[in-house]
Amino acid sequence: MPQSPATKRAVCSQMETNQVRPENEVDAHSPRTHTCGELRSEQIGQQVILKGWVDTRRDLGGVIFIDLRDRYGLTQVVFSPQDNHDAYEVANGLRSEYVVSVRGTVTSRSDETINPKLPTGEVEVRVTDVQLLSKTEPLPFPVSAHEEKRQVAGEDLRLRYRYLDLRRPELQRNILLRHKVYQITRHYFDRQQFVEVETPVLMKSTPEGARDYLVPSRLHPGKFFALPQSPQTYKQILMVAGLDRYFQIVKCFRDEDLRADRQPEFTQIDVEMAFATEEQVYSLIEGLMQEVWKEVFDVDVPVPFPRLSYAEALSRYGSDKPDTRFGMEIVDVGAAFEGSGFRVFDGILERGGKIVAIVVPGEGDRGRGAMDRLDKDVVRKRIGAGGLVYFKRPSDGGGTTSSVKAEVLPSEFVDRAVEKAGAKTGDLVLVLAGDAPKVYEQMGALRLYLANELNLIGRDTDGPWNFLWVTEFPLVEWDPEAKRYAAMHHPFTSPHPEDLDKMLDDPANTRARAYDLVLNGNELGGGSIRIHQSEIQRKMFKLLNIDEEEAQHRFGFLLDAFRFGAPPHGGIAIGYDRLIMLLAGAQSLRDVIAFPKTQRAQELMVDSPDAVDAHQLEDLHIRVVTPKKD
Ligand code: AMO
Repeated sequence: MPQSPATKRAVCSQMETNQVRPENEVDAHSPRTHTCGELRSEQIGQQVILKGWVDTRRDLGGVIFIDLRDRYGLTQVVFSPQDNHDAYEVANGLRSEYVVSVRGTVTSRSDETINPKLPTGEVEVRVTDVQLLSKTEPLPFPVSAHEEKRQVAGEDLRLRYRYLDLRRPELQRNILLRHKVYQITRHYFDRQQFVEVETPVLMKSTPEGARDYLVPSRLHPGKFFALPQSPQTYKQILMVAGLDRYFQIVKCFRDEDLRADRQPEFTQIDVEMAFATEEQVYSLIEGLMQEVWKEVFDVDVPVPFPRLSYAEALSRYGSDKPDTRFGMEIVDVGAAFEGSGFRVFDGILERGGKIVAIVVPGEGDRGRGAMDRLDKDVVRKRIGAGGLVYFKRPSDGGGTTSSVKAEVLPSEFVDRAVEKAGAKTGDLVLVLAGDAPKVYEQMGALRLYLANELNLIGRDTDGPWNFLWVTEFPLVEWDPEAKRYAAMHHPFTSPHPEDLDKMLDDPANTRARAYDLVLNGNELGGGSIRIHQSEIQRKMFKLLNIDEEEAQHRFGFLLDAFRFGAPPHGGIAIGYDRLIMLLAGAQSLRDVIAFPKTQRAQELMVDSPDAVDAHQLEDLHIRVVTPKKD
């Protein structure tokens, strides 16, 4: 990543001050004059001091070449017995990742040794003095990008020695990118009169759908703080407090099942605005994304972002976070099969189910074996659907073939469905049948699977960048295990004004004023216009089966606040780690967090979570019950 002009200036001015020291006072112990990414042909002839890690060392028969590395880059430094025999001897003993300080003269490289790939590749430093600052024991894995290509260490090992892992240029780039986006974000919100307010980390549980991390109280036996799943209630209270526009780059904690895009401890750009409408939230966040993309990639992201209602996202893409970088949209082909006599389809249509299809372009010649594997391993095993029906339109223009025999499903119905799906010669039509919304979600998963398999999605940082807003989420969803409705976003989300009357009578069809920001199939953020009236909030709790007493106990502070002049308000939170992951083209959040947790919510470097002393537990009035082994 290029250095910002401000950083460059700061580094340079510090270096310049160092350079004015009289030469006879300077040795390799003196402060560095330049970083390892800085020297160019303009410095040829200058005496310089560089400090850094030995990235690679090559002994070319009597002359030793070392690539010296720091976070700014690599510089080649050369040790020759003619320049200084002692220094040459020291260089003989240097190994990868030793930390050294070298003093020498910047010289030009001969034409054939110029390295155009390296910003410092036109020059090298001929060393006259070297100090070994720190040695290393044998490394658990190679750090140099050069060697890493040959041997990528397992992730657990890299996490255990995270400080070595973080030396790798790729991770350094990600961490610097993260830093850069913090600065852009803070400037952006500051310019728009947002106030950064810190909210408590030791707080009371706020439901956001996951389990809380709890912290026992020493002074209040048997009582616990909860770490915030998000600062949701505090930011709403800041609106009641008249702060008007709040933002915070904030840590959130959720004890939930982890995936590549989930960490138990993650960061949000959290935002709340008084008197806000959806439109204001959208344009605020669109402006932030434009600024970030401009600064990071010099790309102009077009605004406003497209919008899709939740219902449309589900019916066209089978997902509330659709990846719109490729087609293969879902088509309802149920009508084409009416009266077909095919028992499976008839049964599903009769009970109000759906038959849905996608067209996979250019795959009409797939062999029987490949189709059977797709059905067994992907559709049934991975996706959990009942089975795959498919129709092939071979590229030689021959007749459509169906996975269901013509005696069972007559060809006229197949032809109708193929036409409805929009398949051309050479295409493959995949069909799933079942109850909605599940069958749409299954088809959405199959669509993504095929797009990956067929490489329809390019590397993320090459674009395209398909932002979109998903709007009009349902207010609640049925939780079959708990046998009650649960808030789809959180319990503070306002119902759609047109649906207010049916909130209690027809909750499943009540829309919320909630929205998600989606980028290339990832949920980047979510928010809503909030409830700001105690009566509607109480109604919401009633719908969620939270009785008056529990509501008062858990959220009395918020209900109280709403009694004292609460402005209408709304906001959003952007998943910061996800944002950086997408900007960095990384595959996992772990690659953009300095000290991440594993899939099993452990931090391997410090070995946490860990047992604590008995007296600590005693202070906290806690007795540990060892879990039974099953
Ligand atoms: P929500 O729960 O949708 O909303 O979270 C907002 C965004 O945070 C990111 N995110 C995560 N990132 C990494 N690991 C996780 N475990 C994780 N969970 C969520 C996602 C998500 O879109 N208080 C509301 C916001 C609001 O209504 O204003 C909230 O937290 O990118």
